[in-house]
Amino acid sequence: MANLSGSKIESLSGSLGAQVEGMDLRSDLDDETVAGLRRLLLDRLVLVFPDQNLSSDEQRTLMAHFGEIEKHPERPQILEGSAEEVVVITPSGGVSAVWHCDYEPDFTPCGLCSLNMVECAADGGGDTIFVSAYRIYESFSERMRTLLDGLTAVHRNTGNSGRNRDEAHFPLVGIHPETGRRGLLYSAHHVQDFVELMPEESEMLLARLQLLTQRPNFGLRYHWRPGTIVLWDNRRVQHYVVPDFEGSRLLYQVTVSAAMPTPLPEYTPPIEGEYGAPVSELAAR
Ligand SMILES: [Fe+2]
Repeated sequence: MANLSGSKIESLSGSLGAQVEGMDLRSDLDDETVAGLRRLLLDRLVLVFPDQNLSSDEQRTLMAHFGEIEKHPERPQILEGSAEEVVVITPSGGVSAVWHCDYEPDFTPCGLCSLNMVECAADGGGDTIFVSAYRIYESFSERMRTLLDGLTAVHRNTGNSGRNRDEAHFPLVGIHPETGRRGLLYSAHHVQDFVELMPEESEMLLARLQLLTQRPNFGLRYHWRPGTIVLWDNRRVQHYVVPDFEGSRLLYQVTVSAAMPTPLPEYTPPIEGEYGAPVSELAAR
């Protein structure tokens, strides 16, 4: 595990997640600590820091250590006493009770995401479930992985008017730019088709991928407490909010950019062109 002296690091499930205690994220983090946290994040995919109680500005300062802050299409606000906008998540804005990864306004998956739980639901509901895209990929047989390695996933924007395109195509399998590890770039709610397969074949594979996404042994169900901040590598993690709560709760989200997975050497794009552009859009040029 990462060299984070003085911190207590505990694995949260077999597939992903680590809890880091004894670190004050408000303090000025040195380069070695940031590098250690990044290594731990890349390895465990989800990091949980309880009892931090960061303001939205402190959360932005923390995340700026990990990359350039991204604009987010959903509900950005400037809070009273803050300098910059932050994404504010409340139940009235809807709950993401679908398996998904987060997307930038141009409908490219976000890089590294953070959620800061300010106020939990009073009834104790609203857990978040995270699932590892490495584990889903690795659960397929070698023959099936060879098939997956050649597929282009069609991501469809469903009902979010803040994004500036409705469809994007990415290789289903790619190499993580920082770990070199193969895995899926996959969002069960958004990936609705594969360019290289017949519709019935896509349906069959999507059903399998959705089933694996929901399999408890690839995931981590996290029960929030106020003051906790969670970071995840959105390039290899899907998440789901359990919609079992009533009343108010409040979270802030800050996201930073990170390089997208690179296509496998054996992957051939259906049409040469801009990464993520829909095939239909490329064909029209
Ligand atoms: Fe989300």
